[in-house]
Amino acid sequence: MNYRHAYHAGNFADVAKHIALVAILEYLKRKEKGFVVIDTHAGRGMYDLLGAEATKTSEALAGIEKIRHLQEPLPEGLATYLDLVRAAGASKYPGSPLIAARLLRPQDRLVAIEKHPEEAAALSKELAPAPRAQVLIADGYSRLLTLLPPYERRGVILVDPPFEAADEFQVLAGTVIAALRKFATGVYMVWYPIKSAARAASFCGELLSAGATSLLRLEISREEPGQGMRAAGLLVINPPFGFSEQMVSIGDKLKQPLAARLGIQWLAGGP
Ligand SMILES: C[S@@+](CC[C@H](N)C(=O)[O-])C[C@H]1O[C@@H](n2cnc3c(N)ncnc32)[C@H](O)[C@@H]1O
Repeated sequence: MNYRHAYHAGNFADVAKHIALVAILEYLKRKEKGFVVIDTHAGRGMYDLLGAEATKTSEALAGIEKIRHLQEPLPEGLATYLDLVRAAGASKYPGSPLIAARLLRPQDRLVAIEKHPEEAAALSKELAPAPRAQVLIADGYSRLLTLLPPYERRGVILVDPPFEAADEFQVLAGTVIAALRKFATGVYMVWYPIKSAARAASFCGELLSAGATSLLRLEISREEPGQGMRAAGLLVINPPFGFSEQMVSIGDKLKQPLAARLGIQWLAGGP
């Protein structure tokens, strides 16, 4: 477990994932009934963009720092996301559990799972003021399956592993398929890096053949060469109605400042 998200926080792929998370949570909040957010690989919550790790890679410079000051008019999900990031402070970047915690209502709750003890301890401190948030120090894959189906019967499950292990795609696919069997109506956001287009495509195929009937693929790719990852994907199972259209507008807004293309494709279902 060498991966530390502090090296990558706020990069172009992180930004796209977090904007999608915000947009999905905003859609879920249109209904009064409460929901759960389960973040299986939660990280430490808040990242210091002037810290040693972030300054070593400078990945945020080609990510959040290119869009931090975008002005209205902005699509709703993007505007809310930028408000949240700016509220964290100029040199800070909030990760997925903090973003979720800030958007939850009293009837909603967050379960954040993190295996690394130091990251989990930092996250517990960050989430201490959030009464409806719980941090579990555990393996995100196996622990997720014990939490499904949630009593609310409404929920977002973010699966955002570090992709350190050689069999991560395999374990990820197996876990999501098992989770779908227990909670078929959940909204699942499954992040993956695209180092090999063929491997990413076969992963998407596996989830499709597992019977997901509403499956949207977002893939963000940098147009300019640079160090580090060039492209990443997010599979969204059971996306809320209207989400794909909103992400099209958001992709148009981000294209120029991020120098990145957001490809959006229905693999199953759709309007
Ligand atoms: C990509 S980062 C998460 C970033 C976070 N979701 C965000 O968007 O801000 C992956 C995290 O998973 C943690 N991790 C690694 N293996 C894990 C496992 N088996 N279960 C839970 N967490 C794990 C790492 O310590 C790291 O903090």
